[in-house]
Amino acid sequence: MKPLRVLTGITTSGTPHLGNYVGAIRPAVQASLQANVQSFYFLADYHALIKVGEPERIQRSTLEIAATWLAAGLDPQRVTFYRQSDVPEIPELTWFLTCMAGKGLLNRAHAYKAQVDKNLAAGLESDAEVTAGLFMYPVLMAADILMFKAHRVPVGRDQIQHIEMARDMAASFNHLYGQHLVLPEAAIEEAVATLPGLDGRKMSKSYDNTIALFAPPDVLRKQIAALVTDSRKPGEPKSTEGSALFEIYQAFASAQETQAMRQAYADGIAWGQAKDMLFERIDREIAPMRRAYQDLMSNPGHIEDVLLAGAAKARQIATPFMAQLRQAVGLRSLRSTPVASSSTNTAKASAPSIKQYRDTDGKFYIKLLGADGALLVQSVAFDSPREAGAVAARLRQGDAAALQDHAHQLRLALEKEAVLQALAALMASSESANL
Ligand code: TRP
Repeated sequence: MKPLRVLTGITTSGTPHLGNYVGAIRPAVQASLQANVQSFYFLADYHALIKVGEPERIQRSTLEIAATWLAAGLDPQRVTFYRQSDVPEIPELTWFLTCMAGKGLLNRAHAYKAQVDKNLAAGLESDAEVTAGLFMYPVLMAADILMFKAHRVPVGRDQIQHIEMARDMAASFNHLYGQHLVLPEAAIEEAVATLPGLDGRKMSKSYDNTIALFAPPDVLRKQIAALVTDSRKPGEPKSTEGSALFEIYQAFASAQETQAMRQAYADGIAWGQAKDMLFERIDREIAPMRRAYQDLMSNPGHIEDVLLAGAAKARQIATPFMAQLRQAVGLRSLRSTPVASSSTNTAKASAPSIKQYRDTDGKFYIKLLGADGALLVQSVAFDSPREAGAVAARLRQGDAAALQDHAHQLRLALEKEAVLQALAALMASSESANL
């Protein structure tokens, strides 16, 4: 069985907090230990440039986040662990995808829209303070994912939209240039996808409500003491519903421990005592990692070596794949193949092929050409690249039943035999291609 490819990135703009750990790092490290999973983890430092204009902070954050992942148990031998900016193929793919991404699609991206809404609420021009980097952020993220043909992307809920946009760009690319990109899916850990912060809102740098992951124990204790609670007195039953303290506890505790805490709430545990329990529970999980983290932080040269080795491993995939994509889009050596005009091109084709294209009417079409370039099957218009792509994918796999199922959409040439022969040849060639 081919391994499942899992990929995730973390922006190098801050110091890892408990929310990052619970929402991204911990599930990612666990997933990387499963059999038959090939994992990619990277430091999204190009992404950091979108919001951080302080070079020292980017460097510091890169070090802290790398040390965090390693301390959390990521094994760089087993996974591919790299820094985004060490893989120059990623910005190149970003440009290819930029040419696929609908501007209207990007207009709807949450990160951009949030800034626009903020501006409008403040009576400013809608695009005030908006850089093209912020606007293009989903495209860079799509390149991160599609470069390594990731099947699954563990992310927080706020990122689901970006994965969908990556799928969209991949589908458009495949429609135009053939099946090169794998459509990814978001993976959300249902129980603990987002952690509340000190003020009860989602734990996030931008709300300044985070609890640092590897702060010294006394700092951790102090931060937990600052968690919002209601004003119920010791002895008064407390509600777990909407309790940030309870939610954070649950993210670290077993089902049994969570049940005991639920009972303690019902029995009127004092908030101070509940906070002590939370501190103890978190510290039990974190303390050994905190020691590893401190060792790593005192040896940045070692981390640099680990990241460079990871980039070399990543580029073993990225470099040839990018070469394939350059070929696919027509960025080709003029020496390698005879230059043909598009009209003679089809006549010279030596194998059957399926063409997907968008016509001037804005609709999507597919056609099957025989080895001699003769038109064998021509579709009617499809409204979306996805619909057309699905039918093309079946034909490409030599699935002759697709002819029947989509008879109303496909117009066949008279020589049925030639069509079937072409499909068989296509299937033979698609089996040798590995996506
Ligand atoms: N944008 C993500 C975040 O803010 C980080 C990220 C960048 C990412 N590229 C990615 C996550 C690719 C998953 C896959 O959390």
